[in-house]
Amino acid sequence: MPRKILVTSALPYANGSIHLGHLVEYIQTDIWVRFQNMRGHSCLYCCADDTHGTPIMLRAEKEGITPEQLIDRVWHEHKRDFDGFHIQFDNYYSTNSAETRHYADTIYTRLRDAGLIEVRAIEQFYDPVKAMFLPDRFIKGECPKCHAKDQYGDSCESCGAAYQPTDLIDPYSAVSGAAPVRKQSDHYFFKLSDPRCADFLKGWIVPPQVQAEAANKLNEWLSGGLSDWDISRDAPYFGFEIPDENGNPTGKYYYVWLDAPIGYMGSFRNYCDRHGLNFDDYWKPDSEAEVYHFIGKDILYFHALFWPADCTTPASARPPACSATAS
Ligand code: MF3
Ligand code: ZN
Repeated sequence: MPRKILVTSALPYANGSIHLGHLVEYIQTDIWVRFQNMRGHSCLYCCADDTHGTPIMLRAEKEGITPEQLIDRVWHEHKRDFDGFHIQFDNYYSTNSAETRHYADTIYTRLRDAGLIEVRAIEQFYDPVKAMFLPDRFIKGECPKCHAKDQYGDSCESCGAAYQPTDLIDPYSAVSGAAPVRKQSDHYFFKLSDPRCADFLKGWIVPPQVQAEAANKLNEWLSGGLSDWDISRDAPYFGFEIPDENGNPTGKYYYVWLDAPIGYMGSFRNYCDRHGLNFDDYWKPDSEAEVYHFIGKDILYFHALFWPADCTTPASARPPACSATAS
């Protein structure tokens, strides 16, 4: 019996060029896809640019163009490079698409309706000149340990120390140079600490869903307990705005890592609509199709814990398999 297989590769970020590290992953995946098709199976390969987030917003601004113009240009560069290396995607799409927005809203509202979203005020560094909250990588300052200057908010490149941005001495905004202030705002959390998530994941992170090596690592993380995941960001942000109960805007945006894996669905849905395929034949609980995500091990956490953890759908509705390749 020919199998119905959908394959994805990690979506490259639209903030940079395709390099050899990317190509190692895409070429391995492409070989596997060709192999399955040569065996007589139907194997589709979908990918997309991962287009949202603060770095893209700021880079577009620096270049004096809109984020949409930036991601459009980068999409063409990426596509040219993949074509040059004969990577045969069946669809190369973008997360900044109506399809991805649709599935992001669907997944988010189902989580919310299942009581798995919690709104909580958190305090963060804020750039008073630029009027925006600063992600850790946009805060710099003096290392609290070795006193090297101009170190990033999470770790020191000089002595290797890891710390919180609040530990930096004389912190400044890498965007405007201003001294950041502490400011509160409401954030939306995916309650991964809810026992439903761990209960489901315990049963799910076993071969063949994940490789044995990956299962070991995941169980190690799981036994440490899952923390709730902050899935929202404040404006200004380039991404999809989160709707409230009535579908009205909230002024909050999905964090890029929330909608990135949903881009797998968005890309595949776009392919389905253009080729007369039924999306649900691949993603519904009782589907016979197989979905494989090829990823580097550095993003295992996002793919094998966060991504399958939406406990509101039956276990069988989740991606049936996940393969980690070398990063
Ligand atoms: N853009 C991410 C990175 O470069 C990978 C995203 S994979 C996705 O690490 F599935 F989440 F899209
Ligand atoms: Zn240091």
